[in-house]
Amino acid sequence: MRNRMSRIFKAADGRAVMLAVDHGYFQGPTTGLVRPGETIAPLAPLADTLMVTRGVLRTCVDAGLDIPVVLRVSGGTSILKEDLSDEEITVSIRDAVRLNVAGVAMSVFVGSPHERQTIKGLSDLVDEANEVGIPVLAVTAVGKEMVRDARYLGLACRIAAEMGASIVKTYHCDGFESVVAGCPVPVVIAGGKKLVEKDALELTFRAMRDGAKGVDMGRNIFQSDCPVGMIKAVRAVVHDGATVAQGNDVYLAEKNRKAR
Ligand code: 5RP
Repeated sequence: MRNRMSRIFKAADGRAVMLAVDHGYFQGPTTGLVRPGETIAPLAPLADTLMVTRGVLRTCVDAGLDIPVVLRVSGGTSILKEDLSDEEITVSIRDAVRLNVAGVAMSVFVGSPHERQTIKGLSDLVDEANEVGIPVLAVTAVGKEMVRDARYLGLACRIAAEMGASIVKTYHCDGFESVVAGCPVPVVIAGGKKLVEKDALELTFRAMRDGAKGVDMGRNIFQSDCPVGMIKAVRAVVHDGATVAQGNDVYLAEKNRKAR
């Protein structure tokens, strides 16, 4: 378990840049991920970890690629449904072991119609994953009607940790320090909907300042007009202590280099 955790959070600083490309499991061929292999190829060498489904792992990621994988193992709904919370475990631990993953990830929908099902599902997954030393990342998914404030996110993150998650993924919010303070395992943030690049770097900077251990970011990287520049910039903020302006310079330098 500790060895796998150290593949996700880098030994030098205990921080992580995870590239989330699992969106298709309920969104289908979403913008930037229509051909996942083409999106992933240039970004994987710059990510610490790939968060992906087994279908995309099998079909779009070269098995020889030396990158730790956090495998999404929950699903069961699509964007066609009003309520996205009706998820269950969709991948066996046996298959996760076969795929040699560093971690498994599932969503918990606290406060949703399927709160109990997903919280119980998390604790069952932790039981199974513990047996083979695989850390579980709990995604504190937010239903459309949920408010992403510190009270709600603090509740969801704490419950996930209490159920035995080794890592919790959530959203940055005002008062994020209290979310981190109340969560005894490392917290990483999702990026959410695509923002202007500098704003996404500001979000990253604030999350790290407020106690996050890294990002598990998708759309703000792969939907950028320069995804490679953006992941380099996010790395600079997460791993090198870059300011927002310095991170933005990293992004712009890569974008301008590509344009020449
Ligand atoms: C979906 C997920 C996504 O991986 C997550 O939302 C991260 O991606 P983004 O930065 O695009 O929000 O877990 O439930």
